[in-house]
Amino acid sequence: MGHVDAGKTKLLDCIRGTNVQEGEAGGITQQIGATYLPAENIRERTMELRADAQLNVPGVLVIDTPGHESFTNLRSRGSSLCDIAILVVDITHRLQPQTIESLNLLRMRNTEFIVALNKVDRISGWKKCKNAPFVKAIRQQTEDVKDLFNMKLAEIKTQFQDQGLNTELYYKNKEKGECLSIVPTSAISGEGIPDLLLFLVQWAQKTMVEKLTYVDKVQCTVLEVKVIEGHGTTIDVVLVNGELHEGDQIVVCGLQEPIVTTVRALLTSHPMKESRVKGTYLHHKKIKAAQSIKITAQGLEHAVAGTCLHVVGPDDDMDAIKNSVMEDMESVMSRIEKSGEGVYVQASTLGSLEALLEFLKSPAVRIPVSGIGIGPVHKKDIMKAGVMLEKKKEDAIILAFDVKVTTEARELADDMGVKIFCADIIYHLFDLYKDYIEKIKE
Ligand code: GTP
Ligand code: MG
Ligand code: NA
Repeated sequence: MGHVDAGKTKLLDCIRGTNVQEGEAGGITQQIGATYLPAENIRERTMELRADAQLNVPGVLVIDTPGHESFTNLRSRGSSLCDIAILVVDITHRLQPQTIESLNLLRMRNTEFIVALNKVDRISGWKKCKNAPFVKAIRQQTEDVKDLFNMKLAEIKTQFQDQGLNTELYYKNKEKGECLSIVPTSAISGEGIPDLLLFLVQWAQKTMVEKLTYVDKVQCTVLEVKVIEGHGTTIDVVLVNGELHEGDQIVVCGLQEPIVTTVRALLTSHPMKESRVKGTYLHHKKIKAAQSIKITAQGLEHAVAGTCLHVVGPDDDMDAIKNSVMEDMESVMSRIEKSGEGVYVQASTLGSLEALLEFLKSPAVRIPVSGIGIGPVHKKDIMKAGVMLEKKKEDAIILAFDVKVTTEARELADDMGVKIFCADIIYHLFDLYKDYIEKIKE
């Protein structure tokens, strides 16, 4: 977690040997992503620290969250999914608004976390030591660079102090638990990455034995709903606890009503690859937590991303489960204007829809919303937005965030006079809307 552009995704790219960040629209993360790092990769990457890592965990599932201010809900969801967190701070910018928001979310949930003090390579005069442990890298620096680093570190420690938190470089920290550990890193040249991985795993193993112990009860969140060639509509989930099996009966939140279906296949991305990136899949008969999984099943077309998945057991009350899966959807529906006047908004997931609604409600924006949709814009969405043509013509608009518009929908919109504004960056929608309204007024 952390402020926008602190380097969260880039750190993961450095660990995975991938380049997800440069493929993101505007270079910002707008979705939760998940990556499985197997223990052997962590062991390899931490070799130089000669810990021959006493790794008692099979691996680590890492969740990447957006830092942009509009995505508080996804940061909140991310923080609720994790056992332990890495708060990423940009050493050149120090603590920023979403750094503080993130640390408050973590404190609120009593989630243990460490600080990655990233972009150390940006310190003027820094000599790169590719993928080196931090202590080794800092020894190679001139006295000037060391002084600059210590000065910046001291400023950041003071800022944490202002938030009521004691911090210390992890290798000097004698009171882990009382005092927050800082691991300096560079996502570009890899300094401190071995330290970050090793410290994370060792500390988790030491302090969280009970919490990390596997629990039976299934806890599972739907992150995305995607059409995949050869598989139809699938859902990407994070399994936090419990076990899923092929053939399990599951219930997920649907746009209109709960969806009851049966797991046809359980697929995972290859280790060290991110769930958001297309690739080939591994098949499983059953999967234990924690994992990021793609589920194929019938009837998932209207599944709502960002909600909980339930597995139906032999003694479960189906009605209670159905009610519980629809709770998240109801909270979003309650944000729609009661007057029935406002624009129609469409987004790819419940999470991004919530973020968009939050953004549209903010004091600087204030655009009323009369209807919502999730997934691609279809003809039915145009029909719904078209209702405004009678009521309030300038509201006959669809703000489409990070979703496709079908050709038929586009044609119908042109015929009816419904405007569609598409953007893959949340605040660009506001610019498009504002320009349009100004033009109308002229
Ligand atoms: P959001 O997900 O949008 O909140 O941002 P993020 O925290 O994931 O940051 P991201 O990985 O997108 O990096 C932002 C920019 O900082 C990119 O241009 C990166 O190349 C750059 N960057 C990230 N880490 C480092 C680093 O350690 N050193 C340097 N020099 N640049 C970095
Ligand atoms: Mg990112
Ligand atoms: Na970014």
